[in-house]
This record gives sequence, C-alpha cells and structure tokens, in this order.
Amino acid sequence: MNQDQLKREVAQAALRQIPEGQIIGVGTGSTVNFFIDALADIRHRVRATVSSSERSTERLRAHGFEVLDLNAVTSVPVYVDGADEIDPAGAMIKGGGGALTREKILAEVAERFICIVDASKLVPRLGRFPLPVEVVPMARELVRRRLVALGGAPRLREGFVTDNGNQILDVHGLDIDDPRALETRINQIPGVVTVGLFAHRGADRALVGTPDGVDERSFG
Ligand code: 5RP
Repeated sequence: MNQDQLKREVAQAALRQIPEGQIIGVGTGSTVNFFIDALADIRHRVRATVSSSERSTERLRAHGFEVLDLNAVTSVPVYVDGADEIDPAGAMIKGGGGALTREKILAEVAERFICIVDASKLVPRLGRFPLPVEVVPMARELVRRRLVALGGAPRLREGFVTDNGNQILDVHGLDIDDPRALETRINQIPGVVTVGLFAHRGADRALVGTPDGVDERSFG
C-alpha cells in the first residue's frame, strides 16, 4: 500500500467517529482532503462544519457542506485533522500545510480531537519534522533570533502567506524533549502567533493507517 492509500483508508475509518446531526470540525492537509471526500458520502448525517483553512472550506463547500463561522458556534463535538508527527502521548507537530493557527483554535474548541495519520507520522520523540511557527511579519527577525537562542535553525517558508496574512518560520534541529515546556516557551516570544506544537492540547484519539489496517490509540 502506498502512502495515499493509507491516508484514504484512515480517512474512511474516521467516518465511524462522526456523531449524528452535529457540527464537525475539519482540519487541513492531504489526509483531511481524503476525509472531506469520504464525509461527502454521509453528508445527510452532518449538520454543518467549521473549517481550519480557506482550502478546506472551499473543498467542503464544493461537496455541499455548510461551513460556519466559528464565532457562531458554541460546541464542536469532534475535530478531525492530520499531523506531521505524533508521539506516544498524543502530542503533535502540525502546520506543514501552514494552517496551524486555525487548527489550534479548532482543537481548543473541540470536545474530541481525532488525529488521522499514516504510520509514517508516528515518532518516539517529536522534532525530526521542522517545527512551523507562524509570525507577524514585522517580528520575523526578532522571533528568528529567539528561536536560534533556543537551539533551532529557523528558515522562512518562502513565498508563503498564511490565511491570516502572516509568515511561517520552519525551525529545524530543535531538541524537543519536553513538548509542553517548549510550546509555552515559544508562545511567549512577542510576534509569535502560533507554534505548531500541539502538546498542551494534543489528540484524544489517533487513527493510524498501516498496511495491516487502521490502528486506533486513545490518549489520557
Ligand atoms: C496542516 C497540517 C496537516 O495536518 C499536516 O501538515 C499533515 O498534512 P498531510 O495530511 O498532508 O500529511 O498541520 O497545517
């Protein structure tokens, strides 16, 4: 099975986690694209959606889903999203697709975060994937210096502007032995909008696509 087949399989498995008649939070990325396409088959069971990016919103609307403004919503029972890495505690690196800020907002609102990944995203320790940090453009060089002081090697994601009008620094070489502490530390740098570490609010459940089927894991 290739990676796309694993993504498709895990996206299909996520349909079993969708409660009847509720608002569903939808993330961003290639795995989520498979999920959105699969969700279209049970559209009649979905009241409406909230989305973490303009790209996902467009795809959802193309399938006929209503996409609500999060400010009009008080409860999101389930949020389904991918990850760039996930560790044994359910902490993740996210933001490879650049949607980390809206993803973190939806993760915070959601009662349950279901992470859908293929097995290549499982890691014993976070940090091989460069950590995305969304920054206000005028603070980019300040944030870059602070990230270097933390031991990282930040690189500007060239030609990329987030849905919020900001830039992304991808930080290579960080030693992430305490994801929660590092998330707090980077969040405190003025000009950082969001760090793509999802440790304080990690996944509640992961569905992992493997060649032998979908493996399900729950986290404390
Ligand atoms: C987007 C994300 C994605 O969830 C992450 O990049 C995984 O993407 P894919 O499913 O394409 O591997 O965080 O900002």
